[in-house]
Amino acid sequence: MGKHYAVFGSPIAHSLSPRIHAAFAKQIGVDLDYVAIEASLDDFAAALAAFAARGGNGGNVTLPLKEAAFVLCATTSERAHRAGAVNTLIRDGGNWHGDNTDGTGLIRDLTDRHGLDLRARRTLLLGAGGAARGVAPALLDAGIDQLFVVNRTTERADALVDAMGEPGRVHARYLGDVAALGEFDLIINATSAVRGGELPALPRSLVGRRTAAVDLSYGEVAIPFLAWARANGCHNAVDGLGMLVEQAAESFALWHGVRPETDAVFNELSGRNASLVTAD
Ligand code: ATR
Repeated sequence: MGKHYAVFGSPIAHSLSPRIHAAFAKQIGVDLDYVAIEASLDDFAAALAAFAARGGNGGNVTLPLKEAAFVLCATTSERAHRAGAVNTLIRDGGNWHGDNTDGTGLIRDLTDRHGLDLRARRTLLLGAGGAARGVAPALLDAGIDQLFVVNRTTERADALVDAMGEPGRVHARYLGDVAALGEFDLIINATSAVRGGELPALPRSLVGRRTAAVDLSYGEVAIPFLAWARANGCHNAVDGLGMLVEQAAESFALWHGVRPETDAVFNELSGRNASLVTAD
């Protein structure tokens, strides 16, 4: 009998993860099913328990459940612990073990697929939720220079900065003061602002000679930030589709012991982006 996997989040209906994992499973020859399960913060614990009771072997967690997933895990990896956020669940006896492959996925996409050298890049991280927490440790490990975290709710930016434990290198700043921060070599949008309203105003003064702009989301919700990046002279404008495929490959490797090849899946999904503009 095959193994059972699911992605949890809200909204989840347009998630590409079931397609990505089905393609990986076919490539490697693993018998599995992978479904999308709609769950809000209020019903996530119950949905996860029900999935476990049905024999669920593993899962992915997306917006807005990554920090809640961390709390529900009996054990977590070191990188999930540093992030305080979990995107990958592994059934371990009667418990969930939590890991976080978002950071590794982002770094792989930016360095291997897009050929960006991240070392010494002065970096601005917009947002301090689960997505931002997932990628911040990996960015630091990849050798970026200073990291400035800007968030609508200042306390969350402070908490993220404290969790990184590098006060000389990682700084929280007010969103309203962003114009005073100078130029950045890497600007990452990890907010879900577009979903609930609109992107915070970002001045052109943030953009330097070789600035790469990266939105962790893809499809329609990535359009406003990437349009801002292009209009303001950023050297690269990258959406989160490649990261999505890479984090999926890392999760797949944790579950099945083999890392699938990602280019074919990425090319297929990006080639059909026009039909994916409503994806989350
Ligand atoms: P995710 O897993 O995508 O990070 P999340 O934990 O709900 O989801 O975090 C959403 C992020 O987008 C947060 O940084 C949030 O800011 P707050 O911490 O102040 O809530 C940010 N965000 C959401 N809507 C926003 C808006 N309209 N303007 C600015 N930031 C917004």
